[in-house]
Amino acid sequence: MAKAISTQQIHHPYRAPEGWDAFPVGVYKASTVLFKNTADLHKPRPRDGHSYRYGLHGTPTSYTLAARLATLEGAEHCLLVPSGLAGVTLVSMALLRPGDEVLVPDNVYGQNRYLTESWLPQFGITHRFYDPLDAASLADMLGPQTKLVWLEAAGSITLEFPDLLGLVAACKAQGVLTAIDNTWGTGIAFNPFALGIDVSMNALTKYPSGGADVLMGSVCTRDLALHERLNHAHEHLGYSVGQNDVELVLRGLPTTELRYRAQDATTRALAAWMQAQPAVAQVLHPALPGSPGHAHWLATSSAGAACLFSAIFKPEFDAKQIDAFVDALALFGIGYSWAGPMSLAVPYDMRRSRNLARPYADGQLVRFAIGLEAEADLRADLAQALAVLSP
Ligand SMILES: Cc1ncc(COP(=O)(O)O)c(C=O)c1O
Repeated sequence: MAKAISTQQIHHPYRAPEGWDAFPVGVYKASTVLFKNTADLHKPRPRDGHSYRYGLHGTPTSYTLAARLATLEGAEHCLLVPSGLAGVTLVSMALLRPGDEVLVPDNVYGQNRYLTESWLPQFGITHRFYDPLDAASLADMLGPQTKLVWLEAAGSITLEFPDLLGLVAACKAQGVLTAIDNTWGTGIAFNPFALGIDVSMNALTKYPSGGADVLMGSVCTRDLALHERLNHAHEHLGYSVGQNDVELVLRGLPTTELRYRAQDATTRALAAWMQAQPAVAQVLHPALPGSPGHAHWLATSSAGAACLFSAIFKPEFDAKQIDAFVDALALFGIGYSWAGPMSLAVPYDMRRSRNLARPYADGQLVRFAIGLEAEADLRADLAQALAVLSP
């Protein structure tokens, strides 16, 4: 009996064309993965990044992206998650248990701060903030309950570059796991595993995508046992990524380093120019001598710096005047995220997001994320907007 049209369409035999060999990775999508028969169904399938059981766990497309990201970060294993924040959550949820303590840098990415302060306590997980420039004080804080230390290089918004060598050495001496938010370095400025860091989280939303059109994150490790702990939580939390989004990140990867270096060069030039402007008290950028943590950046990361700098304005300018400066910018969008093609500017009140002493000037702060526009155009735009702060 002839099958109905819908049945014929669903069961139409599909094979990738013989001899089809092209650079782009095929976009394979599935919720259901079909087994040959029940014997095949019952066969154990290792979580090795090659076995297929169900679309939630991975497809040839997502496994290819995970493998390429592991290469980018110098890792062995990689898990994909729906956003950078989901990557932070996965690491903390997988590696911490009731009674454990996590230490986070005082300049940690804001959403990691909120997760740690307002979500983890309900699972009996305590936390303290540490000064990322002071490895000796971190060493003093490590205790038997400390099971995880988050690192971030450079720190969010104020971009202090941590004493990575000292902080990792202190954790290693006590056998405490380290996880880094590696979005800023993205595997290009430094290799977190070569520095002895155990887990690296990268918000693919930023550089690897590069298009400002997708949200995704990755969690990489070298150690198989650690990867299995993370993978276990990954399955239980039901983290999955859409294959169209995976395709977008795969498209961004070949140009990631070129974009990183181009944006780095424009950012350094604009940061140095901004430092010389009369309205500005201090520019924060790890490659600028005098910026907090500059020596630590030189020690580990002189191969690159990301597309971010922050300007602290002289204290005589109030929040309203700084908002007016940001509104006067024509080429800079006002919005969150970074590493996309369009430059962005956001004013921040840093007094509300730090617990410890601040190693930078007081005043209103604007964070700039530099895109792919020409440096001269961006400089001219900054110059015309600064005119609103002239006497
Ligand atoms: C340093 C850093 N880490 C993590 C994230 C989170 O990434 P996502 O926006 O994909 O959740 C961001 C986003 O702005 C970030 O700046």
